[in-house]
Amino acid sequence: MPQTLTKDRIMEALRGVLDPELGSDVVDLGMVREVVLDEGVVTIGLALTIAECPMRGQIENDTVRRIEAIPGVQRAVVKTRAMTRKQRSELMEVARRRARENAAPTRVPPTTRTIAVGSGKGGVGKSSVSVNLALSLGRLGYRVGLLDADIWGFSIPRMLGTDARIEADPATRLMQPVEAHGIEVVSTGLIIESEETALMWRGLMLSKALEQFLQQVAWGKLDYLVIDLPPGTGDVQMALSRLLPQSEMVVVTTPSRTAQKVAIRVADMARRSAMPVVGVIENMSYFETPDGQRFELFGRGGGEALADSLNIPLIGAIPLDPALGAGADRGEPVVVVRPDGPVARVFMEVAGRLVGLVPPADAETCTGRIAKLLAAL
Ligand SMILES: Nc1ncnc2c1ncn2[C@@H]1O[C@H](COP(=O)(O)OP(=O)(O)OP(=O)(O)O)[C@@H](O)[C@H]1O
Ligand SMILES: [Mg+2]
Repeated sequence: MPQTLTKDRIMEALRGVLDPELGSDVVDLGMVREVVLDEGVVTIGLALTIAECPMRGQIENDTVRRIEAIPGVQRAVVKTRAMTRKQRSELMEVARRRARENAAPTRVPPTTRTIAVGSGKGGVGKSSVSVNLALSLGRLGYRVGLLDADIWGFSIPRMLGTDARIEADPATRLMQPVEAHGIEVVSTGLIIESEETALMWRGLMLSKALEQFLQQVAWGKLDYLVIDLPPGTGDVQMALSRLLPQSEMVVVTTPSRTAQKVAIRVADMARRSAMPVVGVIENMSYFETPDGQRFELFGRGGGEALADSLNIPLIGAIPLDPALGAGADRGEPVVVVRPDGPVARVFMEVAGRLVGLVPPADAETCTGRIAKLLAAL
């Protein structure tokens, strides 16, 4: 049954819109001045610190994406205006209090864009896409982290070919991510000794593991954090949206068109976790012979159909390539060992499009300056 659209539901979604520099969400910071529901059209009045804030575009876009992801919303309109001097000083008060309480719920910097890679069913290539997408974002020059949220079914360490161990800094007692091919990586597979230890830990810390990875890891100043979700549409997604409300999702699917069930599951997952889905990546789309002939082995149009039904863009179609699977098995990611090959090229395009949809937070902004002022107080 569709949920009724309420102001509470809208405010909940707005908690996912962060002011990257002040490190808090727009609801908390008192920036939401007005919410008007008119049939399927939602108008949000936002007060920004300074009218011509360079941050404005990002906050507006994030707001529209979050609101339009709510079922029942046809369109979101954002009206921004500058805060009055009084409002600004109230906001400074909230930000100052947050800084004092050090209330940051996770150690993922608020300027980091977090992209969770999910799907409506298992085995479609989420982990392969997470790995190669994260590495491609790195190749574009961004600072990237990769979090393996498939706590017990981890495959990231194997795919990256790393057997380094996560160590804790004795001074801060925080875990240090492992570095692999230039990105920061955290996975249960980099902590536990063996499959048996994994079994032992299973019951003990399943619910806590994700929380620890977000709260007890000294993540660097990342532009992007890619999160490989486990198969299924349940607990981890919900926990993630609670712990990291700024997370957005990219959905991996196959070209099979009969996957109507997939669309329903993905929509359901997005609704329950309140995570907006920014785009669809179709994996195993086609097989291309060296002389350029293409074979669509698993059908056609599944990615586009899913994207249409969710009203979001299809951001790429990854070919079926034995080098991708073999690379994953050997711990040699295809975009690293064949950086100029056809798969790597497609991944670079996908990464570029993702950056277009979810641009990195700009570090030097007007609120950034306010944040610096606050820090100096
Ligand atoms: N484009 C591709 N070309 C060739 N092989 C692929 C491709 N994408 C994925 N594979 C292979 O398909 C298998 C499943 O991929 P992967 O583990 O990434 O899926 P997953 O969705 O993460 O699975 P799970 O739901 O179990 O987490 C792996 O063996 C992988 O190497
Ligand atoms: Mg996986």
